[in-house]
Amino acid sequence: MTVTRDRVRVESCATNLVEAARGRVINKYNVWRLGLEDCLRPRRVIPRCAIMMQRIGPMVQTLTVLGLESSCDDSAAAVVRQSDGEPVQILSSIVYGQTELHSAFGGVVPEIAARAHAEKLDTCVIQALETAGLSLQDMDAIAVTAGPGLIGGVMSGVMCAKGISAATGLPLVGVNHLAGHALTPRLTDGIAYPYLMLLVSGGHCQYLVAHGPEDFTRLGGTIDDAPGEAFDKTARLLGLPQPGGPSVEAEARSGDPKRFRFPRPLLDRPGCDLSFSGLKTALLRMRDQIVAEKGGLTRQDRADLCAGFQQAVVDTLAEKTGRAIDLYLEYDPAHPVIAVAGGVAANSAIRDALETVCSEKGTRFTAPPLALCTDNAAMIAYAGLERFRNGARDGLDLTARPRWPLDQTSPAMLGSGKKGAKA
Ligand code: KG4
Ligand code: ZN
Repeated sequence: MTVTRDRVRVESCATNLVEAARGRVINKYNVWRLGLEDCLRPRRVIPRCAIMMQRIGPMVQTLTVLGLESSCDDSAAAVVRQSDGEPVQILSSIVYGQTELHSAFGGVVPEIAARAHAEKLDTCVIQALETAGLSLQDMDAIAVTAGPGLIGGVMSGVMCAKGISAATGLPLVGVNHLAGHALTPRLTDGIAYPYLMLLVSGGHCQYLVAHGPEDFTRLGGTIDDAPGEAFDKTARLLGLPQPGGPSVEAEARSGDPKRFRFPRPLLDRPGCDLSFSGLKTALLRMRDQIVAEKGGLTRQDRADLCAGFQQAVVDTLAEKTGRAIDLYLEYDPAHPVIAVAGGVAANSAIRDALETVCSEKGTRFTAPPLALCTDNAAMIAYAGLERFRNGARDGLDLTARPRWPLDQTSPAMLGSGKKGAKA
């Protein structure tokens, strides 16, 4: 089978999926008419690996999973493969960012994001398969982000995955986006359970003990904004481009972090809960004061504000991480490891500070490469692979969830009422 035939097949399949995402019903006739008769044959009700096991008896089990991600403003598809006991291979990871689509609006517009996902996901799938040198027939399962996130985008991904599953018979596995981030240290460094996880992204900030792919205990988290949200708002207030994190980090490099005194929120309270909304208010006041005094901001003012803001985030995360490590050590893990993941983990000042705290506490520190800190589908494929290996399967009734806490037993965070308890 040539790549070209596969391309036609996947494109047709994806066309059908886009139709599905627009609310049309996929039916057998439509799929056939679109040239997908091959895909329709329920050619693999039992995963390939299971058939091998039946034929040859117990052997190394290799799983290959296609992952889809579309919960915010990145359309992504990836293929990962793992044999029992072997390091995971990322065979491809395709990400189409939507930054330019949203730049005029100062933030992600959910409707624009959802439409762009519906249009782009099929291309992502084709490219992920091509780059991996594989076809859908080589997959054992398809994993998809089923929440939490912007609901239109999550639905686009779930519909796309359901379409592929319905057309090919591939088992479908819904994945919690936060679990994708939280399991990234296993994908990149093979970290064993349990480990302490600091998940810092645009919508989330929490300390989690990861016991298993679907088993997390939250030790603490933000009671209002996530750090990424605070970086993005800071950039907006200073007229810097989105996403705000990289822009603020770049400006901060030439700034003086001591010129402006930002608060260090919640340090006076015990535990490892965090708060970041006060930093943005402080920055707004400082900015307005400079503008009132001098009529505008100089390049240096902007850099100093960024440096002061970033230092406040760094100091707060470093202190609270130290406390989270102390709490985690009470679990008495044999080999204590703390991992960081999520978009904000791409910030080198934050990574350096966390590394220092970990070495002071005698714990191992691990952080994924930058491309796997921000949203990507390799982490979703891998989290799906872990669920799939444990026997998890979802039906075509898999639903997209705007909110989906990882630790379902801990109470919702205080202060998260404005947007609800996302995590
Ligand atoms: O994990 P992610 O890609 O998406 C969410 O699940 O939220 O994280 C995106 C967030 C954005 O708020 C972005 O500004 C932030 O991560 N971010 C950074 C950096 N790179 C991305 N924040 C601080 N410093 C960075 N270098
Ligand atoms: Zn994310």
